[in-house]
Amino acid sequence: MTSLPADQYCVEISRPGPPAVLQGARVPLPAPGPGQVLLRVHAAGVNRPDCLQRAGFYAPPPGASPVPGLEVAGEIVQLGASVPAHWLGAAVCALLTGGGYAEYCVADLALCLPIPDGFSMAEAACLPETCFTVWSNVFDRGQLQPGETLLVQGGASGIGTTAVQMAHALGYRVFATAGTDERCRLVERLGAERCINHRDEDFVAVLQHATAGRGVDVILDMVAGETLTRELQVVADDGRIVLIAFLGGAQVQLDASILLRRRITVTGSTLRPRPVAFKARIAAALLARVWPTLAAGQWRPLIDSWFPLAEAARAHTLMESGAHIGKIVLEVA
Ligand SMILES: NC(=O)c1ccc[n+]([C@@H]2O[C@H](COP(=O)([O-])OP(=O)(O)OC[C@H]3O[C@@H](n4cnc5c(N)ncnc54)[C@H](OP(=O)(O)O)[C@@H]3O)[C@@H](O)[C@H]2O)c1
Repeated sequence: MTSLPADQYCVEISRPGPPAVLQGARVPLPAPGPGQVLLRVHAAGVNRPDCLQRAGFYAPPPGASPVPGLEVAGEIVQLGASVPAHWLGAAVCALLTGGGYAEYCVADLALCLPIPDGFSMAEAACLPETCFTVWSNVFDRGQLQPGETLLVQGGASGIGTTAVQMAHALGYRVFATAGTDERCRLVERLGAERCINHRDEDFVAVLQHATAGRGVDVILDMVAGETLTRELQVVADDGRIVLIAFLGGAQVQLDASILLRRRITVTGSTLRPRPVAFKARIAAALLARVWPTLAAGQWRPLIDSWFPLAEAARAHTLMESGAHIGKIVLEVA
């Protein structure tokens, strides 16, 4: 094990603003606390919440690093108190509350997962934020049951491609929406039975037809706004609509009588501020249910683009353009 440097390179948010406010800096190495480990980061996933944080709309929760970055893959190089010695040198991917845009970061051991066989560090770095979010919202909150159907709005996004692939690998019937025909065909190749171009087609009509009028059981929605109003026309009786963002607007007009008559649940959540113990339960479920599908080669994250860590601003510009399909990765080491 090589000795650790006193300081490290990271990318900081110099002030709230456009991608150019992401600036390289040298800072001291963070120290792992009890139950935590220090990771030498090989790759970090980029997520839209990083862009929101950079723009000043999504402050890190109390105690989290102000450095952006919610997921990484790397090697454990230092152990906090109570972490067994055999973890030293292990290659893992980890869900973070921040700090991933850096050469070194601290992670809770309970939120570290093994790198699936045959996966590169870049691929592994794309797993935590999307897998934890999809599991928590589709399977825990949304309670997707065997034989039920899932609709993923924003199917070509980082979260969306993961949701489509994970649910398909677990044997569910999946539908999705995306913004162009090209994006739709790609999402279908990932496992969606039908991906609907939300700019040209009426997803309500398409899905009513595809489900013989029954509707879909669970909807993973990052759009809200008028889209949520229309989802009420295509969610099945007893269906669940789970919001993870409101890219189409937070204000929603809905006919409350539908919720009563058809027993619809509209819910939502944000992952980042939840306690470690909550996220650790998701990690255990992922290890038991989802990691075997990765190990079996059933799916792997779809990576759109790679950037060196120092070019994080370019990665954010691409993400905000909406032109990417799947994940964007920062290569660190
Ligand atoms: N609640 C949570 O715990 C949680 C955790 C992680 C992420 N999120 C949220 O989940 C969303 C997806 O994250 P990501 O990292 O996967 O982002 P991303 O890759 O940038 O995906 C966003 C996609 O949403 C689609 N979209 C649909 N309607 C849109 C609209 N009105 N405006 C803009 N985009 C629209 C776009 O694809 P098309 O053009 O193909 O429609 C766009 O590519 C983000 O909003 C993020 O903040 C929530």
